[in-house]
Amino acid sequence: MFPTTLLIGCGRLGGALVRGWLSKGIDPARLIVAESHPTPDADRARKAGAEVVDSASEAAADTVVLAVKPKVWREAVEALSGKPAGTLISLMAGVRAADIAKALPGWRIVRVMPTTGIGVGRGAAAWWSQADGVADTVDAVLGSVSSLVRLEDEADIDIATAISGSGQGYVFAFAKALAEAGERAGLAPDIATGLARATLMSGSAVMEADDRDLETLIGEVASPGGTTQAGLDAMEQAGMPGAVNAAVAAALAKARELAGG
Ligand SMILES: NC(=O)c1ccc[n+]([C@@H]2O[C@H](COP(=O)([O-])OP(=O)(O)OC[C@H]3O[C@@H](n4cnc5c(N)ncnc54)[C@H](OP(=O)(O)O)[C@@H]3O)[C@@H](O)[C@H]2O)c1
Repeated sequence: MFPTTLLIGCGRLGGALVRGWLSKGIDPARLIVAESHPTPDADRARKAGAEVVDSASEAAADTVVLAVKPKVWREAVEALSGKPAGTLISLMAGVRAADIAKALPGWRIVRVMPTTGIGVGRGAAAWWSQADGVADTVDAVLGSVSSLVRLEDEADIDIATAISGSGQGYVFAFAKALAEAGERAGLAPDIATGLARATLMSGSAVMEADDRDLETLIGEVASPGGTTQAGLDAMEQAGMPGAVNAAVAAALAKARELAGG
């Protein structure tokens, strides 16, 4: 059951979470949103019946979701000091659990790296915690809007950031490249874009329905000597796997730099 939850920060990610929760029928009476300035999704939450406050110091809940930028997290959690300890779920990239625990003694700290797909109830999230008994809370709060994978090491959150947290951006970039290639080949821009978007959604739906390994799925659509195989060979020669590796390596390096490690 969704616990009474205080969301601190209702910007791009926190706002997506609010949209996801509301679309999944979460009872708005169980939701408190702390947002330092009005945002469309905080407004949406208020209209749906959630309590919206300017500062977390004005609210209380056992479960807190922190969705502010890493540079302002200390100020945000200061608003919780003096309140009974509960579970804090941090969605921030690059802020170590030990640092949050130092600022909030007694709180159970969970780190989650989600995608903004939570906004449409289809997020992909990796999470880590060394606290006992938090899995049910993570599932209750995020399970309705995201798939959840538990990590064994906190350091792997940085890798999850580079793969899935940033990965939605790579997917959109691939769709854009596919659309532009369609245009260069002669399609009208709206037709090329529509086909590229629909193709990625079609491929995603197949991966969801069919859990055979990815090499097998590729083999299903690429017959020897056919058009798909010709395209895949050209893609490999042009360095597509290398480009993806480079993207992940760069995002991982940035995640580690932001984390100060
Ligand atoms: N966006 C993504 O795709 C994504 C994916 C994975 C993880 N994340 C993580 O999610 C976190 C938020 O990112 P974002 O892109 O959603 O940032 P954002 O759009 O800037 O949203 C953060 C919101 O929190 C508000 N805020 C700041 N301090 C506050 C406080 N003390 N109390 C209440 N509200 C406060 C900000 O208001 P002001 O503008 O007035 O400061 C802003 O509206 C980051 O730590 C990021 O690492 C983001």
